[in-house]
Amino acid sequence: MPVGPSLRQLHAHQAIHHSGLAGAKSKTEEVEQFYSSGDLELAEQATAELLEYWESRILSHADAEEDGFYQEAVEKNPALQDVVLQLKRDHELMRIVVKSIHQLRETPGWNVEILHKLYALLEINEIHSREEERLLF
Ligand SMILES: [Fe+2]
Ligand SMILES: [Fe+2]
Repeated sequence: MPVGPSLRQLHAHQAIHHSGLAGAKSKTEEVEQFYSSGDLELAEQATAELLEYWESRILSHADAEEDGFYQEAVEKNPALQDVVLQLKRDHELMRIVVKSIHQLRETPGWNVEILHKLYALLEINEIHSREEERLLF
């Protein structure tokens, strides 16, 4: 798949990371506020929206990177092979956590464990983006 210029240019790529993370952070805080105020139904709705956001904004960015951008980086510099493997593992961790939240949601009633996993996702994503920007550019 051809790689769009936005992935190749550090500033454009950083902007994708920053806006993705900022949106996920504020939506996670929303989930927490609903939880804290005891409104578990709204917490559940906000969680559903947030998972959709993770998939359409952040995991789809990861898929796009693995579809071309990472291979291109390795072709230009074969020494980046291990770095790319590690970055792919970060993506995989995020996919696994998102999937585990979906599984938790199959049990009726909103569970605070979901919130812990949502915060874990933010942390993994923040570290991943920082490493990607540092090691591939
Ligand atoms: Fe990535
Ligand atoms: Fe990225």
